[in-house]
Amino acid sequence: MNDFTFYSPTYFVFGKERENEAGKYIKKFYGSRVLIHYGGVSAVKSGLIDKIKLSLEKEGLYYKELGGVKPNPRDGMVYKGIELCRNEKIDFILAVGGGSVIDSAKAIALGTPYAGDFWDFYADRSLTANASALPVGTVLTIAAAGSEGSSDSVITKEEGMLKRATGGECLRPKFSILDPALTQTLPAYQTACGATDIMAHVFERYFTNTKRVETTDRLCEAILMAMIHETPKAIADPDDYEARANIMWAGMVAHNDICGVGREQDWNSHWLEHEVSSLTDCAHGAGLAVIMPAWMEYVCAHDIARFCKVACRVWGCPMDYDNPESTARAGIKAFRDFLRSIGMPTSLEELGATASDILYLVKTLGLNGKKTGGFLPLGEEDAENIYKIACRDKRF
Ligand code: NZQ
Ligand code: ZN
Repeated sequence: MNDFTFYSPTYFVFGKERENEAGKYIKKFYGSRVLIHYGGVSAVKSGLIDKIKLSLEKEGLYYKELGGVKPNPRDGMVYKGIELCRNEKIDFILAVGGGSVIDSAKAIALGTPYAGDFWDFYADRSLTANASALPVGTVLTIAAAGSEGSSDSVITKEEGMLKRATGGECLRPKFSILDPALTQTLPAYQTACGATDIMAHVFERYFTNTKRVETTDRLCEAILMAMIHETPKAIADPDDYEARANIMWAGMVAHNDICGVGREQDWNSHWLEHEVSSLTDCAHGAGLAVIMPAWMEYVCAHDIARFCKVACRVWGCPMDYDNPESTARAGIKAFRDFLRSIGMPTSLEELGATASDILYLVKTLGLNGKKTGGFLPLGEEDAENIYKIACRDKRF
C-alpha cells in the first residue's frame, strides 16, 4: 500500500426529511447570506426548493436563488453565479440537486473570491490545491457523481465545448444532506445512469498497479456487489426507500476516496467519457456505460489476474485456470450485460456519436503526444482504438 493523507471533513446528514435542517447546518458553518443554487425543473416541481426556503427563513437567513443549471453544467451559469455572489455579498452556497448543480456551485465558490477567471482552475488543476473558496453545502437529489463528498468539480466551457475537471480540498462540501426519498422521483434512466457512474468510480480505483491493497480491494468489491443487488430493485420499484438509501450511500463512499487511498488510480475512462458527453450532451453515466467496458476490453491483457479477481469475486464467474483470459473477459461481459439489463446504452451510436466523430474526440482530449492514466498510461492511438471498440454495437 502507498502512503497517503486522507481528510474528508464533510458533515453527512442522512435520512428522511433531513432537508428541513438545511438552515440549521448553514448556520453551523457560519453562513448568513446564502445562494440557493439548483437545476432545471425537478427540485422546484417536487416542492423541495420551497421546503429549503422555509428552512432558511426559520433560521433568519438571507438568501438569493439561482436556478437553471443544465446537466453537464456550463461556464455561462458559473459567471452569472459569481457576479450574483459578489453583488449580494454571499457567504455560503447551498447546492440543491445532483452532480451538475453541486459542481456549478463549487465553481462559483472558487471563482467568487478569485481575482482572475475561474476557468484558470479548470485549465490548470494544480491551482486549486492552494485556492480558497466560499463554503458549499449540498442537498442531494440523485445518487451518481459523488460530488456531495468529493473534492472535485467538472464544468464545460461553451467555447470549444471543453469539459474539464478540477479538484482541491477547498471544494469538499461543509455538509451534505442525503435524503434517499428525494431520489424516488428519478426516472429509471437517470437512476441507471447514476448507478453506472457509481460503479465506474469504484472501477477507476480498483484497476491499479499497487500491490497488496486487499482492504481497499474488498471495500471496492463490496460497493460493486451492493450496486448489483440494489440497482434493479430501485428501477423495478422507484419508491423502494431501502434500495434508494443503499445506493445513495454507495454513491458517496464510491467517490469521497475512502476506497482509493493508498493505491494508484486510473481515470482514463472518465477522461474519454467527458469528451463524449461534451460532444453529444449525453448523461455522464450513459457515456461511461459505453466507454468503460470498451476500455476494459482494451487494457485487460495488462493485468489478467486483477480482471479475474473482479470477475470471480464480484460477478461470480467460474475461474478457468487453463485460460485465465477467458475468465477476465467473462467478467467484462457480465458488466456489460448488467448495464444493458438496467437500460444503459453500450455503443457510441446509441449516444448520438458515430465513427466519424472519433478523430474529433481524440483531438479534444488534448493529449498532445502525452499519455494519461494510472493503470495503463494511454496515448492518442489508444484512445482512438477504445473509441472504435465503443462504436461496435454490443447487443448482438
Ligand atoms: O435539472 P433537473 O430538473 O433537476 O433534472 C436533473 C437532470 O436532468 C435530474 N434530476 C436530478 N435529481 C432528480 C432529477 N429528476 C427527478 N428527480 C430527482 N430527484 O437528473 C438529471 C441529471 O442530473 P445531474 O446533476 O446532471 O446528474 P449527475 O449527478 O449524474 O451529475 C452529472 C455531472 O457530474 C459530473 C459529470 O461529468 C456531469 O457533469 N461529475 C462530477 C464529479 C465530481 N464533482 O466529483 C465526478 C463524476 O465523475 C462526474 O464527472
Ligand atoms: Zn463519474
